[in-house]
Amino acid sequence: MTADSKRGLFITFEGIDGSGKSTQCRLLADALQAEGHDVVLTREPGGSPGAEEIRRLVLEGDPDRWSAETELLLFMAARRDHLERTIEPALAAGKVVICDRFADSTRMYQGLSRGDLRAAVDQMHKLMITREPDLTLLIDMDPAEGLARAKGRQGKEERFEDFGVELQEKMRAGFLALAQEFAHRFRVVDGARSQGDVATDVRQLADAALKGARA
Ligand code: ADP
Ligand code: TYD
Repeated sequence: MTADSKRGLFITFEGIDGSGKSTQCRLLADALQAEGHDVVLTREPGGSPGAEEIRRLVLEGDPDRWSAETELLLFMAARRDHLERTIEPALAAGKVVICDRFADSTRMYQGLSRGDLRAAVDQMHKLMITREPDLTLLIDMDPAEGLARAKGRQGKEERFEDFGVELQEKMRAGFLALAQEFAHRFRVVDGARSQGDVATDVRQLADAALKGARA
């Protein structure tokens, strides 16, 4: 059975770099698809052609390439395009949208880490985005371990990873606080276990949300 044809279901994954979000998004999307759900797997920044172009601007290059304010505008522009072109149409068609990071990442990274911009983030979100997920899975784990995993990947997208382990510590605490602030939609999953064990918890939480969407 698929999610309610009018409502769809919007699931986001959040957490520090290297916590296993992308891995778990993929495993959940595969599992739900195999059961016949209509699934859209997407990510931020990115998820639409325009937003993927902005992704390159924000994730590659010098950590000081943008001011905190300019960076916030770029992330918001990317999200608005992603929402218009990918997320809202899929939800309107009753699909399950699984998104690797969303607005909670902006609340953390731009709102907390690079300046005290949380009020600006909230105002812009209210003005330009408004959409909140039905379920947010916070993959929680030790920042040093997460960073070691993230550094193990080869790539050019290191603007944020270059901020180092103190930033990741602050982000972990911030995400846990956010999970309390939005307790109705957040669920915290212990990410410091095997991929299979994490996936089992993720699956149970997604199933509960799917049942809720059909009720
Ligand atoms: P994120 O999207 O949160 O940055 P990824 O899913 O890309 O994390 O995982 C980061 C790295 O850690 C990848 O190389 C991935 O294969 C590995 N990884 C993911 N989950 C686990 C796990 N539970 N245990 C060990 N390694 C993992
Ligand atoms: P991502 O590709 O998910 O990185 P990772 O797989 O290492 O977790 O995201 C790239 C970076 O972008 C990540 O360090 C967090 C940052 N980011 C923001 O700063 N603000 C945002 O709104 C989003 C969506 C991501």
